[in-house]
Amino acid sequence: MAFSIQPLDAPLGVEVIGFDVDRDATPDAAARLKQAWLDHVVLCFRDQHVGPAGFVKLAGLFGKPTPQPLQRAEYQVAGHPELRVLSSEHRDTLGDNRLLRIGGSWHSDHSHQQSPPRGTMLHALQLPSHGGNTSFTNQHAAFKALPAAKQAQAKSLMVHHVYNSPYAPRKMQTLSAAEAQTAAPQAVHPLARPHPVDGRLALFLNPIRTARIEGMTDEASQELLDEMLEHSTQPQFRYSHTWRKGDVLIWDNPQALHMASHDYPENELRLMHRTLVRSD
Ligand SMILES: [Fe+2]
Repeated sequence: MAFSIQPLDAPLGVEVIGFDVDRDATPDAAARLKQAWLDHVVLCFRDQHVGPAGFVKLAGLFGKPTPQPLQRAEYQVAGHPELRVLSSEHRDTLGDNRLLRIGGSWHSDHSHQQSPPRGTMLHALQLPSHGGNTSFTNQHAAFKALPAAKQAQAKSLMVHHVYNSPYAPRKMQTLSAAEAQTAAPQAVHPLARPHPVDGRLALFLNPIRTARIEGMTDEASQELLDEMLEHSTQPQFRYSHTWRKGDVLIWDNPQALHMASHDYPENELRLMHRTLVRSD
């Protein structure tokens, strides 16, 4: 096969080198890539200088690219309802008009949905001169590293997820009443959540969306969630991705937390396309 898959020198993540979506998107390649995705959580395809159709084709190797839950005029990519523009220039136009700086604290995408997307894929189109990394954790490895008693406790607990937790470290963007109808459901998920592919358990955390653990007081619930977050974000479970223009990166939401660093100059553009992938 013409492309190669190389593990990163990090607790998670692989690089895919030399992949040409028009030449290499075969069923055999898809099977190999999906196994690497499950095993390594984050896959980075380097040098993908393709348009929206090529990006969607690449996403299709991992599952079904789905329409975005929140789609406004400034987020749209013509002809591609499954894509969303992520721009450092977007503001909370229905709220206080601040720069949104989307994804700027640890989270897992759309965990307030009953069936959150398996994968999130980004295509780096414009990058600031420095900074703007995206960091990831391996929540399966974090679960496995817990003492047995903590694993048992996590396995027994269910967590209530909402659009914007009262304990969130950042405010989500303001929704219109119509958007809130579709983009702000609620869901309950196990704290030790089985992976949809092979049932491996991962700590399913999301500080921006977890409102409380069922059967616990808010205080005890937040204390335990904070403890699990502190455990999960230790260096031995983390990878920080320094973007190159043309990178396409996909991560496995059931076993990753992620966070964008908006530590670049305010007048510099960070522009990406995003798609969400549902499991086959
Ligand atoms: Fe995200």
